[in-house]
Amino acid sequence: MPSCLCILLTGLSCVLWNAVMGFDGLRLVGGDDECSGRVEVLRHKQWVTVCDHGWGFREAHVVCLELGCGFAEYPTQGQAFGPGSTAIWIKHVQCSGHESSLSQCSVILGSDLQCTHQNDAGVKCSGSLFKPTLAMVSPHTVFSVGESVRFSCHILVGPSHVSDFHLHKDGVLTPLVTQRVEQSQSRVELTLSDLETFHQGSYSCRYMIKGNFPAHLLHSPPSNSINITVVDLLTPQHWYNTSLDAPPGSVIRGHNFNITCSTLQQYPGASFQLRLVRTNGTVRHSLPAPAPFVTFTFPSAQTSDEGYYYCLYRVQLGGRTFVSRESQPLPISVRDPDPLLSPLMISWLVSALTFVIAAIFILIVAKFLCNKQKKPSELARETRTCVDNTYVALSINKL
Ligand SMILES: *[C@@H]1O[C@H](CO)[C@@H](O)[C@H](O)[C@H]1NC(C)=O
Ligand SMILES: *[C@@H]1O[C@H](CO)[C@@H](O)[C@H](O)[C@H]1NC(C)=O
Ligand SMILES: *[C@@H]1O[C@H](CO)[C@@H](O)[C@H](O)[C@H]1NC(C)=O
Ligand SMILES: *[C@@H]1O[C@H](CO)[C@@H](O)[C@H](O)[C@H]1NC(C)=O
Repeated sequence: MPSCLCILLTGLSCVLWNAVMGFDGLRLVGGDDECSGRVEVLRHKQWVTVCDHGWGFREAHVVCLELGCGFAEYPTQGQAFGPGSTAIWIKHVQCSGHESSLSQCSVILGSDLQCTHQNDAGVKCSGSLFKPTLAMVSPHTVFSVGESVRFSCHILVGPSHVSDFHLHKDGVLTPLVTQRVEQSQSRVELTLSDLETFHQGSYSCRYMIKGNFPAHLLHSPPSNSINITVVDLLTPQHWYNTSLDAPPGSVIRGHNFNITCSTLQQYPGASFQLRLVRTNGTVRHSLPAPAPFVTFTFPSAQTSDEGYYYCLYRVQLGGRTFVSRESQPLPISVRDPDPLLSPLMISWLVSALTFVIAAIFILIVAKFLCNKQKKPSELARETRTCVDNTYVALSINKL
């Protein structure tokens, strides 16, 4: 409800404006643009002027706001924008400054002041708040964690009295960066430092203007938006596989082995790099990573494959290359095959062992047969025979 502060004195009465006198239009005439000039109101299909009695900042502010012209820089009195040529609508209008339309303000009737076109009320508004333009100052839009991004926010046609520029991230209410400016500055640089992955997203800027009276701030509409990407690559893991008989940390010369690099992330166009650090230099292998892991195969291990292996993940985004940290070193040594464990040696050992066991068995049997109760002379002869038999038995076994 519009307020009406009236002191009922002799000859003074108070009426609610909107209850009595609605109107169909509001304009500013005679100024440089539609945001400054003589105040005119459309009533009964006729434009009429407003008398400047009691015309001040509060009233001017309501007019600027209603016209979308920012805030009132100053109210004018005494036909500052030339005299009107129409009827004079009302002598004394009074606003609190919180109305959204002049039609909600009160009008004080009954004043016996004289009103002519010498007393036309006017206003100079700050002008409508145009969209600012956001642009990149940084040469790219993809960043890694910890870097800074630099934007510029620019007003093409704008009011003076700009107080702050704000950088907003979509979906976040409070501005991430606020930049206070000198008056009449139309371009600022907004820097967001120490980027984290949650900073990835869409950004826009706004500016604020300070109203004189009542003291208030107006926000401009948001600018165009710009997306930025923040890349944080995890350190990959890796392991190796080789023949089962190789001791841990080694591969057998001539055997195949595989090293698998793996990460938890997946970016299009990424690759894994495997770096081998040897005593006499470094070798690099690279493979595209269509999946979050990739296997480097080595068909035949050689001494030149010996050393410390490291994996890293590499991504190309927005014309930049991003590289993860290297994995922990994976030491691999190349061993000669163990001669004792070669298959040929094993089969040779098995047949030799069989031969020895059989020989011992035959000797024991022969001894048992020959050790019957005999005369020592006979025994001696028997023993020789037994030994001869054993030789025969052994020869048979050999065959
Ligand atoms: C920014 O990203 C959003 C979704 O992530 C997308 O809808 C929008 O079109 C992008 N805007 C620009 C300017 O690239
Ligand atoms: C390869 O080695 C890894 C780690 O030592 C092991 O988990 C995996 O089962 C092995 N894969 C094959 C096919 O042997
Ligand atoms: C290494 O990878 C190759 C090709 O995928 C495969 O044929 C071979 O069996 C693997 N070797 C080991 C020891 O896992
Ligand atoms: C390093 O040594 C390996 C064998 O141990 C050899 O094959 C390779 O050519 C050497 N590299 C350089 C750069 O000398």
